[in-house]
Amino acid sequence: MKYSDAQLREFGLTRERIPRHVAIIMDGNGRWATARGQMRSAGHRAGVNALRDIIRFSSDAGVEALTVYAFSTENKKRPPEEIGVLCALLIEYFKKEIDELDENRVRIRSIGELNWFPENVQAAVRNAEIRTAKNEGLKLNIALNYGSQAEIIRAMQLASMAAAREGRVPTQADFEANLYTAGLPEVDLLIRTSGEERISNFLLYQLAYAELYFTDLYWPDFTKEEYLKALRDFAGRARRFGGLTAKDRA
Ligand code: FPP
Repeated sequence: MKYSDAQLREFGLTRERIPRHVAIIMDGNGRWATARGQMRSAGHRAGVNALRDIIRFSSDAGVEALTVYAFSTENKKRPPEEIGVLCALLIEYFKKEIDELDENRVRIRSIGELNWFPENVQAAVRNAEIRTAKNEGLKLNIALNYGSQAEIIRAMQLASMAAAREGRVPTQADFEANLYTAGLPEVDLLIRTSGEERISNFLLYQLAYAELYFTDLYWPDFTKEEYLKALRDFAGRARRFGGLTAKDRA
């Protein structure tokens, strides 16, 4: 965390209203590139640049956890060339960014079925996880070959097997302990770019009470200023979690 309360106020934010856990569906890289007459790969590259700024600001503003959707289970249907580009970008990303992330005490984890990826991608991700494992700053989760329905089934199976060994049925706590996000706060704010207003199999369980924020901008155009707009919008929402706020009661 870098910003003081006074600095946060200059951004139009207050400490108590910073979301603890932000999740982002970084959508529209391909369309961003096509609109410029560029290859889709250029869009993904620009997407990485946008992500860098959002991670920095999240870390500086004291967001506790940031979970970003980099590759869904459905993305495996894309042409092999595009998957190759994304894999190469991932390797490059971890090589280039790891020093800064580590210096800023960011703890990196991947969520999803990493084993599907080529060996060199797995190694790059695992190295980043190991190197940053003890960091106590922003918890950055990168969803890779992630699908929420598969995560839920997996957690249900693991929790049932563990409970059965003890001769009991699994509890909610058992189930949650087997999600990839175990130990993290529930998602407070979900952002999706590119005008699509869907959840697309992302963190279905963890989003139970999340505030949703959609913008028409393509992901590479989602700057720090745009992130600030989303955070200010979030700060202005009345969160009831199914109950009543003090104002409702008055
Ligand atoms: C959606 O755009 C984006 C993705 C499928 C990948 C997101 C990846 C990055 C931001 C870069 C890689 C990430 C890391 C962490 C190195 P799209 O291709 O679906 O765009 P479209 O909907 O316009 O086709």
